Amino acid sequence: MSGKDLRTRLKQRIPENLLGLLPRAFDVIGSKEKAVAILELPEELKDYERTISEILMEVHKNVKTVLAKASGRYGTYRIRELRLIAGEEDTEVIHREAGCLFKLDPMKVYFSPREATERARIAELVKPRESVLVMFSGVCPLPIVIAKKQPDVRIVAVEINTDAHNYCVQNLFLNKLYGRIQPVLGDVKDVCPSLGEKFDRVLMPLPKGAADYLGVAISCLRDGGTLHFYHWAHEKDLFSEAEGLIKAAAERMKGRAEILDRVRVLPYGPRVWKVRVDAKICFNGLSTNLD
Ligand SMILES: C[S@@+](CC[C@H](N)C(=O)[O-])C[C@H]1O[C@@H](n2cnc3c(N)ncnc32)[C@H](O)[C@@H]1O
Repeated sequence: MSGKDLRTRLKQRIPENLLGLLPRAFDVIGSKEKAVAILELPEELKDYERTISEILMEVHKNVKTVLAKASGRYGTYRIRELRLIAGEEDTEVIHREAGCLFKLDPMKVYFSPREATERARIAELVKPRESVLVMFSGVCPLPIVIAKKQPDVRIVAVEINTDAHNYCVQNLFLNKLYGRIQPVLGDVKDVCPSLGEKFDRVLMPLPKGAADYLGVAISCLRDGGTLHFYHWAHEKDLFSEAEGLIKAAAERMKGRAEILDRVRVLPYGPRVWKVRVDAKICFNGLSTNLD
């Protein structure tokens, strides 16, 4: 969401020299009825954060709560500390994206509205009647966007955060997808081997740490299946490390990785990007992929 309107309205309310420090954009999670805005304000604007938030809620009537980022993402659940600046304490919302509904509380679970384009790109890649394993599935945005785009697919979604898993279950009902997506609560290291199933496609949307799970992911792929691996990388060399990790893991599993695509997903920090590398994994040199 643009910060331009906000800057115009704040002209008389905060010192002129600080206007340039206002964020150019901020995340809004929710719907036309109720949304939460998440701001990242520099220290210099701290004294004005309440004013900024109140004006923001005036300009964007659907925003009922304004939160400040109070930490980076941390821990297994990849959530962050969010501090209430203004508005309602109840931060549970229903986010709308591409005809899908995602109920969630950003205080309790990972969710990024900025990844909508990436979700749509992935959904385009999935083919009819495929079986798809989505590791690290959160509140299930990826499985839901895929299932809405491609009605014949079977999807298993594995998530360790109980809050995220519970929202996923609710979201499957909200999107009338219960039965088509199987949500499983647990650590992918324990859950995936116990599924006893080989998938056409495995997604690994955990840029921090997915490398540790490459062996499990590859063991869940059928011969010739596709792996989507997410990683962070410096802009001076975006893909070499990810490709090396995939190839080494495939070799450890007595397989071979053929790189299919390299995608710059989103900027993550100064000169650091979230990237995706797609690879076809073959175990005997004879691919069973019928593409
Ligand atoms: C970066 S978030 C992505 C969530 C979701 N795919 C999305 O796009 O909104 C990674 C998710 O993986 C989950 N996670 C981390 N380690 C896990 C593990 N070992 N097994 C299952 N889920 C895990 C976290 O709780 C978090 O919800």
